[in-house]
Amino acid sequence: MHNSNCTCWNCPAIDLKGKVDFRACGQSTTEFGKKKDETSEVYIMAECKRRPELGLFDPMSITFEDCPQWQKTPYGYLLKDMRVMILGIDGYLGWTLALWLGSLGCRVSGVDNYNRRKWVKERGSHTVIPISSMTERLHSAKEVLGIEIDFREIDILNEKERLKEFIDEVKPEAIVHYAECPSAPFSMIDVDHAIEVQKNNVLGTLGLLFIMRDVVPETSLLKLGTMGEYGTPLTGRPIFEGMFPADAVLHWDGREWSLGGELTPRDPVSFYHVSKVQDTFNVYEACKYWWLRSYDIMQGVIFGVHTDQVSADPRLRTRLDIDEWFGTIINRFVAQAIVGIPLTLYGRGNQIRGFIALRDAMECMTRLIACPPEPGQYAVVNQISGVYSLRQLAYLVAQIGRKYFDLDVQVQRVENPRVEADEHPFEALYEKLPKNYGFTPKVNIAKEIYRMFELLSKPQIRERIEEKKHLIIPKTWWSGVKREVKRLELLDLKEEVKEDEERYKIYQR
Ligand SMILES: NC(=O)c1ccc[n+]([C@@H]2O[C@H](COP(=O)([O-])OP(=O)(O)OC[C@H]3O[C@@H](n4cnc5c(N)ncnc54)[C@H](O)[C@@H]3O)[C@@H](O)[C@H]2O)c1
Repeated sequence: MHNSNCTCWNCPAIDLKGKVDFRACGQSTTEFGKKKDETSEVYIMAECKRRPELGLFDPMSITFEDCPQWQKTPYGYLLKDMRVMILGIDGYLGWTLALWLGSLGCRVSGVDNYNRRKWVKERGSHTVIPISSMTERLHSAKEVLGIEIDFREIDILNEKERLKEFIDEVKPEAIVHYAECPSAPFSMIDVDHAIEVQKNNVLGTLGLLFIMRDVVPETSLLKLGTMGEYGTPLTGRPIFEGMFPADAVLHWDGREWSLGGELTPRDPVSFYHVSKVQDTFNVYEACKYWWLRSYDIMQGVIFGVHTDQVSADPRLRTRLDIDEWFGTIINRFVAQAIVGIPLTLYGRGNQIRGFIALRDAMECMTRLIACPPEPGQYAVVNQISGVYSLRQLAYLVAQIGRKYFDLDVQVQRVENPRVEADEHPFEALYEKLPKNYGFTPKVNIAKEIYRMFELLSKPQIRERIEEKKHLIIPKTWWSGVKREVKRLELLDLKEEVKEDEERYKIYQR
């Protein structure tokens, strides 16, 4: 198991005790994080909140494998009845994770202020897969899956005191922070929306960090960033997982320095992505100042709607949006194929991005929750399971729609409303999740797309797509212009697929 050898040093049930006020001492964790000799000037011992009978002990002396509080699951050892709080629990990922973790025996709590429901309404759209109210969701989770979720309606930005009280009451052992606005186009509408996104995301997260310092400093924070923080370096420099590896070197002016362990440059591509970069620095600093522990998860674009739990009952479904502000690309393509709108490639359509299926993203989160960082550790993972050009994805969706669903799916190039390179090298590393946390992707992208076609073709859902299909073609330009993008070209699918396969083979790891 990937986490058998983790010790109490990683465990959120620990209470650290020592001769120094190490959290305020300003020293790095590497300098004296693990000293444990009582005769030395500084040392750190532990008490266990779950097993107080152990008294004071060396935090490195008990492994997860040896501790009865940690139990085997398919995703590593997991703390028995682990208390996990999900911020943004009503969202696409939050709701899915709540049911996923609940079915693994975690005690799930969560907060949301329904921002996402309001923002999608503002666009005049709706989730094409109908979702229930939170009251109904909680009731169905209990009735269908036997999962009890402790939910509070809280705005994490404007109700910090209430959030603090709730966290203090629950004392979560992991906090998953999804509660941000996830849309790049939304942040580019106008100044008010840009400010709303940055305030909500950056200040919401900053407030949370202070609460964690004061109330639950040993709890691990799983904070959602995005692969879009890195941009697409035109030099072709690899996109490392947050920090430069130990052997990276900077050569300049006849001299050289090690870059190992430094944060890699970020080159965000919208004011939304800037908010995530700002979060990165705030979380990084909080880990440094207060020895908080965090995974900053650079997540790729999610696709799909299936996990065993959300598929168990229509009332448990998670949302799926297709409008220009909130729909993500593969989800939108499938909806477009079903209602006969040619799939839209922006500009040349050769942008390359990292992707991961909903179900696989849930497994990654679980594996990270099961392997908490050490005190003071800020760790970054690139959470993707494959890298594709947008053109490749359009062809894949088109082929599946044509072959299996008898749909005349077309692909078009349209003006690009964004400011981004539409032809660029891309070498993203995503080795930590497989190597360090035992993750292997389980979802085949073509199969999930096929299953999405099946679900979205159902009359009730198809009708909901038809109702909002006028919101699919983008009208929000990075320049501030508000007009629908124009078609540049309708593509000949037969010719293109072959050429494209050759062109992008090199990017498939
Ligand atoms: N979906 C993707 O493809 C993707 C890719 C990369 C990163 N992410 C990140 O993952 C996270 C979750 O994404 P998602 O797709 O589930 O988005 P989502 O909008 O469906 O979920 C976010 C939830 O947070 C809530 N929320 C927002 N602001 C809040 C506040 N101030 N107080 C309380 N609740 C608040 C929203 O109401 C929503 O339910 C986001 O941070 C997003 O940026 C998503």
